[in-house]
Amino acid sequence: MGVIVDTQQDIEEIVPAWSAQEGAQRANALFERTYGEAADGVWASPGRVNIIGEHTDYNGGLCLPIALPHRTYVALRRRDDAEVHLVSSFDGEELRWDGALSDVHPGGVEGWVGYTAGIAWALAEAGHQVSGFDAALVSCVPTAAGLSSSAAVECAVGLALDDVNGIGLGHSDEGRAALVDLAVRTENDLVGAPTGGLDQAASLRTAEGRALLLDCRDGSTRQVPFDLAAEDLELLVIDTRAKHSHATGGYGQRRATCEAAAKTLGVATLREITDLDDALSRLDDDESVRRVRHVVTEIARVQDFVALVDAGRLTEVGPLMNASHDSLRDDYEVSCPELDVAVDAARGAGAIGARMTGGGFGGCAISLVHAADRAAVVDAVVDAYRQAGFKAPKLHVVTPSTPGGRIS
Ligand code: GLA
Repeated sequence: MGVIVDTQQDIEEIVPAWSAQEGAQRANALFERTYGEAADGVWASPGRVNIIGEHTDYNGGLCLPIALPHRTYVALRRRDDAEVHLVSSFDGEELRWDGALSDVHPGGVEGWVGYTAGIAWALAEAGHQVSGFDAALVSCVPTAAGLSSSAAVECAVGLALDDVNGIGLGHSDEGRAALVDLAVRTENDLVGAPTGGLDQAASLRTAEGRALLLDCRDGSTRQVPFDLAAEDLELLVIDTRAKHSHATGGYGQRRATCEAAAKTLGVATLREITDLDDALSRLDDDESVRRVRHVVTEIARVQDFVALVDAGRLTEVGPLMNASHDSLRDDYEVSCPELDVAVDAARGAGAIGARMTGGGFGGCAISLVHAADRAAVVDAVVDAYRQAGFKAPKLHVVTPSTPGGRIS
């Protein structure tokens, strides 16, 4: 369970994670108030932080996410017709949409409706029978913070539709991997965000107390024991509250550069590069060189990180986290001043390691700390933000939590 940092500093804290029971109650209450009847059930799926392995997923590489205790909850009822009714209450703002399954296709719906109902389209495209539905969504995953609130929505609704239509993908890891692909398809083809599969796999294929070693070349996974408490460690999430408007464009450009470089090098993805120096010598522009160097070295860092964890040397992963951040800042150029200040302050105050997490251009940094050093790290980050004139960050201590599933 995530806990809010108790600090003397005057900072605005992020919303604490709801218990499953509280989330279900809130979703059911919204459903009953909106539709006047009870839902068939409540399903939930979490946001994530990625421990290491950034911008590797769409390059066939390795990532290591954990599920957050923060989840999106959907109360849903199957309809016998093809109508779709949605209500969501995120950040206190209630939104409604009433339409039909036939409206849900690329170009047919926009914004939050695409993230919410789009998976129905992807399921149908994959040949599954999907009926109309009424849904009510609530969430305690911070939005626009780079913690995958959108994947949590897609996956929660995906699990619900899978269940009420008797499809059964949610019952096995293989089925969940298929659901991940459908959620990615929704994001890529219907919403228009060219993201990889990291966020959805974290939401559906993780396990409590574990980090998920995800191999994006073939979709294979390994659950890596990630017991922070056993080592007296804590994982601090620092929400910079910085949102950079070029996020989508910058992400797409990075992906396009990687794909063009892979083509130049004659490999299917950058994962296939075995000799980095040779590959770099065959690229003629500096930008491609730096992007490729990041991806290839980052994949190696994930391998090294997991090897240390496997050897019981979790306290020694700091240099890998730090190198990951530096590479994302200098070679991949997806950091921003707010992320760099947070990371530098955490490192300076004795953190084991610190790095940005997620796509970048704002969002969150993570820091692995000895529990005894947490207060000093928090104070250092808050002070550094004050001195830099940034909005106060929001802080959270998280543990690897449960993946998506039916709550009630
Ligand atoms: C975002 C995307 C993911 C992944 C990360 C970077 O979170 O949604 O697919 O590419 O950025 O690792």
